Amino acid sequence: MDGLWMKTVLDHAPVGIVVMDEQRVIHFMNERAQEMTNWRTGDTFPHCLYCQARELTGDGEQCILALDDPLPVFQTQLPNHDGDYEIYDVRTDKLTFPDGNTYMILALHRPQSTQGNDQLKVERLLVRETMRVQEVERKRIARELHDHIGQSVYSIFLGVQGMKNHLSDPKYMNHLRTMETHLEQTMDDIKLLSKELRPQVLDSLGLCKALQVAVTDWQTTYGVQFEVDCEIFNKELFKDAELQLFRVMQEAVRNAIRHGQARHITIRLQADETSLRYEIIDNGQGFDVHNLRNTGLGLFHMKERMKMVRGDVKWDSRIGGPTRIYGHIPFV
Ligand SMILES: Nc1ncnc2c1ncn2[C@@H]1O[C@H](COP(=O)(O)OP(=O)(O)OP(=O)(O)O)[C@@H](O)[C@H]1O
Ligand SMILES: [Mg+2]
Repeated sequence: MDGLWMKTVLDHAPVGIVVMDEQRVIHFMNERAQEMTNWRTGDTFPHCLYCQARELTGDGEQCILALDDPLPVFQTQLPNHDGDYEIYDVRTDKLTFPDGNTYMILALHRPQSTQGNDQLKVERLLVRETMRVQEVERKRIARELHDHIGQSVYSIFLGVQGMKNHLSDPKYMNHLRTMETHLEQTMDDIKLLSKELRPQVLDSLGLCKALQVAVTDWQTTYGVQFEVDCEIFNKELFKDAELQLFRVMQEAVRNAIRHGQARHITIRLQADETSLRYEIIDNGQGFDVHNLRNTGLGLFHMKERMKMVRGDVKWDSRIGGPTRIYGHIPFV
């Protein structure tokens, strides 16, 4: 019984088998594990959804498998090579060789029952519903901000200007000038905030125009250079798709600036006969897409938003950058 015989047996084992070292580098995978996950030997084993969300104290280990006494059996969601999460039952064991090298052996398989998948579906529906309600609420707040609070501040601003004509005392005049400056700043902030909350032009003039307006604001606010190429011609996406893509671009830009410290961002939208293709490229520091240390909700919501309109979103990035986010949305 040689090594080939053993490999054949392992490849046909009814579970996916993965062996990784303490740095989570994969040393062995049987064929079933490769089929299930698309990972390869040499890849770094990605953090599961549970570990990504774990609160750490000090320099604590992010991965529960690296603990001295790891859980022997658990169910979790792991990203496949495309970044989509799948549910797995995981069994683990630790093996320390006489030379001191320690390896983790993982047996992966998909849950027999559909209970986990049903739960995932319900969670997904809830996320989508929450995002829909959020959009309605954002629209309402944007309207209130613009029409009500914005108008009130403008009335006060006019009042202050009127008072200036009746004052001769330079001390009060200076006070009024300061108030005027603050009020102008507040009016600008309100405008910017209401546009971020719900870009009106998106409803009236469409995605390209809304993008141009947003880019002008982002350039001023963040001091970052943008290059925009929007060629949708007369291909109208349905309104919901335009809004979802606009939100994806907002989050992509926020992440590029906040996490990547990008100085230049390119946004391209191009339509062909059947779909709209988009890409957002930033020249920031990049990140390891398959091994996220901190996850918020941004990337997850971007994926959900695209799924809602039957489109997709993918990330192409590495430490050192650049980062490219791309995908497509089919025309109805
Ligand atoms: N363009 C990017 N450049 C560099 N790192 C990025 C970029 N986009 C995402 N990341 C990394 O991916 C992680 C997850 O992003 P995500 O948007 O999901 O969460 P967040 O921005 O940290 O929080 P939230 O979006 O919920 O406010 C970020 O913390 C960051 O480390
Ligand atoms: Mg984010």
